[in-house]
Amino acid sequence: MIKNLFFIAIVGGIITCACSKISSRKQDEARIERRVDSVLKLMTLEEKIGQLTLFTSDYDVTGPTLRENYKEDIKAGKVGAIFNAYGVDYVRQLQRMAVEETRLGIPLIFGYDVIHGHRTIFPISLGESASWDTAMVRKAAQIAAIEATAEGLNWTFAPMVDIARDPRWGRISEGAGEDVFLGKCMAEARVKGFQGRRLDDPKTLVACAKHFAAYGAAQAGRDYHTVDISERTLREVYLPPFKAAVDAGVGTFMTSFNETAGVPSTGNRFLLTDVLRNEWGFKGFVVTDYTSINEMVAHGFAKNEKEAGELAINAGVDMDMQGAVYYNYLKKSIEEGKVSMATVDEAVRRILRIKFKLGLFDNPYLYCDNNREKYEVMTQEHLDFARNMARKSIVLLKNEKQILPLSKEIKTLAVIGPLADNRRELLGSWSAAGNWTQAITILEGIRNAVSSSTKILYARGCNIHDDTTLYIAEAVNKSRQADAVILVIGEAHWMSGEAASRSDLGLPGVQQQLADAIMAVGKPVIAVLLSGRPLTITKLSEQTTALLAAWFPGTMAGPAVADVIFGDYNPSAKLPVTFPRNVGQIPIYYCMKNTGRPMDPDNKYTSKYLDIPNTPLFPFGFGLSYTSFEYSDLQLSQTILKASDTLQVRVKVKNTGKYSGEETVQMYVRDLVGSVTRPVKELKGFKKVYLNPGEEQVVAFKLTARDLSFWDIHMNFTHEPGEFKVFVGGDSEHCLEMGFVLE
Ligand code: GLC
Repeated sequence: MIKNLFFIAIVGGIITCACSKISSRKQDEARIERRVDSVLKLMTLEEKIGQLTLFTSDYDVTGPTLRENYKEDIKAGKVGAIFNAYGVDYVRQLQRMAVEETRLGIPLIFGYDVIHGHRTIFPISLGESASWDTAMVRKAAQIAAIEATAEGLNWTFAPMVDIARDPRWGRISEGAGEDVFLGKCMAEARVKGFQGRRLDDPKTLVACAKHFAAYGAAQAGRDYHTVDISERTLREVYLPPFKAAVDAGVGTFMTSFNETAGVPSTGNRFLLTDVLRNEWGFKGFVVTDYTSINEMVAHGFAKNEKEAGELAINAGVDMDMQGAVYYNYLKKSIEEGKVSMATVDEAVRRILRIKFKLGLFDNPYLYCDNNREKYEVMTQEHLDFARNMARKSIVLLKNEKQILPLSKEIKTLAVIGPLADNRRELLGSWSAAGNWTQAITILEGIRNAVSSSTKILYARGCNIHDDTTLYIAEAVNKSRQADAVILVIGEAHWMSGEAASRSDLGLPGVQQQLADAIMAVGKPVIAVLLSGRPLTITKLSEQTTALLAAWFPGTMAGPAVADVIFGDYNPSAKLPVTFPRNVGQIPIYYCMKNTGRPMDPDNKYTSKYLDIPNTPLFPFGFGLSYTSFEYSDLQLSQTILKASDTLQVRVKVKNTGKYSGEETVQMYVRDLVGSVTRPVKELKGFKKVYLNPGEEQVVAFKLTARDLSFWDIHMNFTHEPGEFKVFVGGDSEHCLEMGFVLE
């Protein structure tokens, strides 16, 4: 009986290596293929089905079911992967069961939802995306990978790349917002950050593009709800960030819970095989979301779990997360001829390939280093980075009379609100192994920032989400004594993320009542909004003097918010998602269609509401600075463009204020006429420039026919001749524009 399988794999590998002088990536891949085949040949059907099975440990809970005897399953070779288990000793204990107590000793892969940090928690992904800083976002993923691998993990269920245009949907917090171009950039940055250059680098994680696909288009923003969109919308809006993840080399994909046009993603062969494998050439493996195979019975797409398993594996699902469907029924399905052995073998190959790439066959304990766990987690370097990432995520939405930045010498400052001295909420949802007790509150951040002579008066004012108004009077009283008020309000961490849709996006509880009472005092008020999504804060935005959208800023929330308030950092973030005036406007996003009756205030019979403007409260791409930037002299290299040409777009940007600052220059395009209607604007480029007061720079972009391509009336991805407009500015509404013609 072969006891120690990877002895074979290692010997095989050494011989191959000796023969090949320089092991190129191609030779690496060929070598891995040979090693995969050598293992596959030895496996029984039960062992193959084991590799297709993923169970959660009981270390953390991220879904509706748990499994008691997962350790016995590991020892029986019936599990190929474990999630929600971390910590070197624990991972080593489970890995030892697989490697030393099973017939073939195939190592486990360990997954976890490392979304926006592992122990050091960064802003929620929507907040990170508000930085529009792909280098920073990539670095955040890289640090998350260092900390997660230091605790035994080698697979993250991230990045979440779902485009989301409905803030009622709680999972808008986990992605990059409403825009396709920004979503693609963030998907690439996160995959490269997590995966690094080589997966067998013990400080990198294999990433997982999720949730495939169109999960963010759930009807009415209700999580897990039906998605019914055209193939054109699927391909124009929801698929591109996933394709960007494939192009970035992502190793795994996760299917989404939802159906699309009647077919649940977990049984959708068009998505999982026709598009993902045949069109895009994806070579990794596909895992389901939590029991999403089983849920195809509830969908009414399978009459029982066994049939659901057959639909899933024949559609292209390789690994069953927590459903135990392959575990329970796949052998019988094969015996009945409902599933071929070739299909099973291909699924096993894809999983073994990733395990070889991770280096787990050469050393199953590669990610079990107690020293790393001791010295590479929550280091000062990581915390400093987290503070900088958080500062760059905070969007300045209003700054009347330039009240901000405040002076650190301010005499008396009232800090009010249920989130001012709150630690737990700061990490937001999906905060992995983040320890909220280590987060720095906004009150602490402010106390540490002001001068020793400044008097800080704190009052909670109310709770986050109940109707107690008993504490408002104290808050009003303290505000009366102050020269300015910082009002920290918003959502609890659990009000966004999974299974956290909201039908009303106003401030929860009596927070608006608190705000009204504080505003009535008449002192300048700086409102700091903590949330996992845009909120309908129209009244607050009108009544407050200044307004910061800080999302959930993570472990270093306090210092980061204080850095912005007192001017140690000049805010540079821009909204990755539109803020609606009220829920009735939803879905509302910048790249909408013009319609046949575009809004005309002088004409009743045009597309509008009787009770509210069509415009949002704050548009996509919007964000103020303590300085001001002036755009001028937009120039195009030509106004007639041949399909083979590259259009050069240049604009001058000048810092016309008194602070140095960073501006995110955005370039949008409109295709005026197409074989199908086209959006009024589409983001096609952005660049960040740092300018000192008075400094001016020319910012240049390029546009090609491919950038102007779309899915035409025949569903071909192509460009079409005609008139276009280019828009360049600091947000999606305020732009310089010029026209050109594509021949
Ligand atoms: C959850 C989420 C998914 C997560 C998985 C494992 O249901 O939908 O994003 O990665 O289960 O925790």
